[in-house]
This record gives sequence, structure tokens and C-alpha cells, in this order.
Amino acid sequence: ELLALQGLKRGTLRIAGVTTTEYFIAQWISAFARTHPGIDIELAVHNRDAVVELLRSERVDLALMMRPPSFPPLHTLPVLDNPLVLIGPAGHPWAQRRRLPLSALKGQTLLWRESGSGTRQVVLEHLRANGLDPDERLTLGSNEAIKHAVAAGLGLAVLSRHALDADPAQEGLALLPMTGFPILRLWQLVWRRDRRLPLAASAWIEHLRSALPTAFQAGSGLKAPTIAMPDNSA
Ligand code: PGA
Repeated sequence: ELLALQGLKRGTLRIAGVTTTEYFIAQWISAFARTHPGIDIELAVHNRDAVVELLRSERVDLALMMRPPSFPPLHTLPVLDNPLVLIGPAGHPWAQRRRLPLSALKGQTLLWRESGSGTRQVVLEHLRANGLDPDERLTLGSNEAIKHAVAAGLGLAVLSRHALDADPAQEGLALLPMTGFPILRLWQLVWRRDRRLPLAASAWIEHLRSALPTAFQAGSGLKAPTIAMPDNSA
């Protein structure tokens, strides 16, 4: 069957990725696109709730997301760690500190993604579970808008480490170490259990499965960005 998939000549790979996957998903598609020249590739990039809707309405066959819904029933394949980090403007005094308590966030202005965002949902749940009731006054509808606003001093934010440069200082940002951060989540590749998976989609999953064990090694064609994390120890 694997041979049949490798030889697949035609079809369309219809994938949806949540917003932050746009920083790396092209790398995950490019080797496949080269070895499967007859397959069309359609990648949709939206927030979590919109990706769920695309799966439900069968407009995509596969999705890459952090918070899969309980309906429709899905197969899930974990593919990449997604640490959510607290960021502030470069030079923020907290960047030099160790182990700030989460309560230090009380009274701080936080910048939020829009309400359909999985990142927003996870961060809110995390803060509420730890007894904080964060202010949700400031919403900016994209990771990039949030990064620019944080760099400009508008507030702090929690974003996927993958949305940031390997050296966040290059973007005017600093990682702030704090108890409870990073929030450790992962992205999963998901597809419906109650539908037949098109061959093009199976072929891409097989491609990822064979490449993922070596995902972070040079030359695998599957690379996650090299990322630094704030020192949360001591
Ligand atoms: P989102 O992505 O914040 O762009 O919705 C998060 C996720 O669900 O992985």
C-alpha cells in the first residue's frame, strides 16, 4: 500500500493549519510537493475555531491544531511541541529575573488574540485555573499585530514560541520567565474517523510519519525553528 501511495499521481491535499503553524508548515509540505508533482496542495490558515469548522464541513481532510474538538470523532497524531511563552518588550526588567510568581501578572495589561483563537483559550484557562482573572480589554487579531504591539510597549502577551524569532530581541521582544510558563502544549495532526481519507492525505501522513522521527535533524526536510526558552529554573 505504501508503494501505491508513493506512486500517487493525482489528487488534492487539503489541509488546514491553525495560525501559528504558518511559521513552519511550508517546510513540511515542500519535500512532499517535490516528490508528488501531480498532487495539488491547498493549505488554509485560520484560527482554531475556523479550522474546526472546516473539518466539520469537510472542506479540508487534515488539520494541524492544538485543541482538537470532541466532535467530529478524530484520529490524532502528535507532531510538534507548542510551548506558549510570556513576552514583553526588549529590555523589560522581568527578563533578568528568575521565577517571577504568576501573581505578578495581576494588574498587567495583556494583549489577546481574537476569541476563536486556541492560543487565547488555552492561556485564559491556564490563568483562571491559577486563580487569576485577567483583563481581556485589548484584542488584536494576529500574532504579528500582537508582536508589534508588545514591542511598542502596549502590554505583555502569551504566544507560541514558534511565532517568535530564534532571537526575539531581533523583533524588539524579550521572553519573560515566570512560574507556570511556558505553558506546554502540542500540535496534533487530525483527521476524521467517520470519513474515508483521500489518498493524497494518506500519502502526506505517511510522508510525515517517515520524516518525523528525524524531524529536527538537518536534511530531514522537516525542521522546527531553533528556539530558546526563558530560564525558568532555580
Ligand atoms: P490559534 O492556534 O491561536 O491560531 O487558534 C492555536 C491552536 O489551536 O493551536
